[in-house]
Amino acid sequence: MDNRVVAIDGPAGAGKSTIARLLADRIKYTYIDSGAMYRALTLKVLDSSINIADTKEIIEISKEVDIDFMDKCIYLDGKVVDKQIREERINKNVSIIAAIPDVRKNIVRIQRRISIGKNVVMDGRDVGTVIFPNAFIKFFITASLEERAMRRCAEIEASGMSVDLQDIKCQIEKRDYTDSTREDSPLMQAEDAILIDTSGKSIEEVLQVVINFINLRGGDINAI
Ligand code: CDP
Repeated sequence: MDNRVVAIDGPAGAGKSTIARLLADRIKYTYIDSGAMYRALTLKVLDSSINIADTKEIIEISKEVDIDFMDKCIYLDGKVVDKQIREERINKNVSIIAAIPDVRKNIVRIQRRISIGKNVVMDGRDVGTVIFPNAFIKFFITASLEERAMRRCAEIEASGMSVDLQDIKCQIEKRDYTDSTREDSPLMQAEDAILIDTSGKSIEEVLQVVINFINLRGGDINAI
């Protein structure tokens, strides 16, 4: 049997990565967080002396950077950077870096390479449209801006930090705007993707909907 890809795309804070992780565990596929790779590159750029507006230098870094995603952890130059890539400074800059076409070319190459020979659940913005247009099944997961912002706030508060809902809402809106309006691989629903609005739904409910669609497609997923 060919290797299979389950593609999960959608805007910021829609719950993609939570669903993708749980799904991968249930169906015994490998989970890959494509956004974590853009975040890792952003971390490298911000920690170097390069100016965020220096597109040429950023492209150079994206050519040489050592980024990997293994056992649900993101590696930058051999070190696990899961915590660092979630910092505020990364949230604020990642979309700017992810909009550079030559950067995308280099990161997409890594994303495809680490998926070779595996059954994969990958979440992001362009998994079903660009990285794996022939994915076995594609989902586009979304939720209202209000709910996405509230979820993000709850996540941040759970880690012991205080946060302002309005700030988070603005930040998410801004990132979605940058991601949806960029010329290369904008955030959009693939024609053949299944749209799921998770507003008002629990994680388990969404997961069940996803699994049902996979079964309907003849997913041959015996772990379910
Ligand atoms: O978790 P959240 O939805 O907030 O974001 P993420 O998946 O960690 O992605 C962070 C950023 O990386 C996005 O806002 C995009 O700018 C970029 N990204 C992308 O361009 N293409 C992907 N396949 C995944 C992420």
